[in-house]
Amino acid sequence: MGDRKRVCIVGSGNWGSAIAKVLGTNVKTLDQFETQINMWVFEEDINGRKLTEIINTDHENVKYLPGHKIPENVIAIPDVVEAAKDADILVFVIPHQFLPKICGQLKSSVKPTAVGISLIKGFNMKEGGGIALISSVVEDTLHIPCAVLMGANIADEVASENYCEATIGIKQKEHGTLLKKLFQADYFRIVVCEDEDTVEICGALKNIVAVGAGFADGLGYGDNTKAAVIRLGLMEMVKFCEAFYHGSSQSTFLESCGVADLVTTCYAGRNRKVAEAFVKSKKSIEELEKEMLNGQKLQGPPTAEEVNFMLKSKGMEDRFPMFTAVHKICKGQLPVEEFINCLKNHPEHM
Ligand SMILES: NC(=O)c1ccc[n+]([C@@H]2O[C@H](COP(=O)([O-])OP(=O)(O)OC[C@H]3O[C@@H](n4cnc5c(N)ncnc54)[C@H](O)[C@@H]3O)[C@@H](O)[C@H]2O)c1
Repeated sequence: MGDRKRVCIVGSGNWGSAIAKVLGTNVKTLDQFETQINMWVFEEDINGRKLTEIINTDHENVKYLPGHKIPENVIAIPDVVEAAKDADILVFVIPHQFLPKICGQLKSSVKPTAVGISLIKGFNMKEGGGIALISSVVEDTLHIPCAVLMGANIADEVASENYCEATIGIKQKEHGTLLKKLFQADYFRIVVCEDEDTVEICGALKNIVAVGAGFADGLGYGDNTKAAVIRLGLMEMVKFCEAFYHGSSQSTFLESCGVADLVTTCYAGRNRKVAEAFVKSKKSIEELEKEMLNGQKLQGPPTAEEVNFMLKSKGMEDRFPMFTAVHKICKGQLPVEEFINCLKNHPEHM
């Protein structure tokens, strides 16, 4: 990559807006980057005003990250092709179900020398069967390399500048230093790791475990049960990487993207919260997502479905009892009261 790099943030939800604050502040003082950052915003009408206009005038995403200012050098743009024009670094941070369409729109206009980094947690179902990593959807559609950033990062806490860590997973080592410069802040500490696939898989799978933690909370179990859910979930994450992504290193699970993100999500995230309400209210996941999240999207239930799509086709559901139970409960194929029974016969205990 050459001189000052132009950065574009593709997405502007809860995490996208928090990361806009980090990056917008950083580029003002780093001479490797252009000081203006374009941020693609999915346009919405908020009480008669356009969300892009609100962000560009009041410098706040009042819907997805209220109470936090976004730096003035971050410009909200409703057209993704215009936002990404001439960008050298594309930061993807949208709910994963929208990514294939966005990549399709960007396909013919992305700079061939650009580099992507995905902050997205989830998988993409492949048409012929199996699942693909989100970073590979970017790579295969846009023909650019794509790193990932994952970690124990609840967006509101990052926006409040509370100390935390994150992991950048990157195969092309040469871009790692620049991306670390772009993302690291005094309160947001980055470790760069070459085991990119494991970093990304941890980020996606932990949302399934968080749904399980929410079920346990909703059913009234205590902290011992929650700890067991977290541990068994971690074992399934490790086993999943061993089974499908050879070469993953056990030490990656000890980075922020692994055990730290898992713990945070199982105590504080939206997947846990909605899953607890699912048990107590008897409403569907879809109803609760609409009622409780004000436009934010749940990643755990769709990720459980994507993973199940793969496990089922390979006859491996029994080897991943928690992932399988979470999926079946979300789909109404298994009563939630059965969740703990599914764990009692876990292969870990046999
Ligand atoms: N929020 C967090 O604390 C957090 C932390 C780390 C990672 N993540 C991950 O970051 C990714 C983005 O999450 P988020 O929290 O920024 O988003 P979000 O769930 O807060 O917001 C939903 C976003 O989707 C957009 N949207 C709605 N309909 C759309 C459509 N049809 N097409 C395109 N976009 C549409 C909305 O405008 C909004 O920007 C997810 O993969 C999430 O798992 C989130």
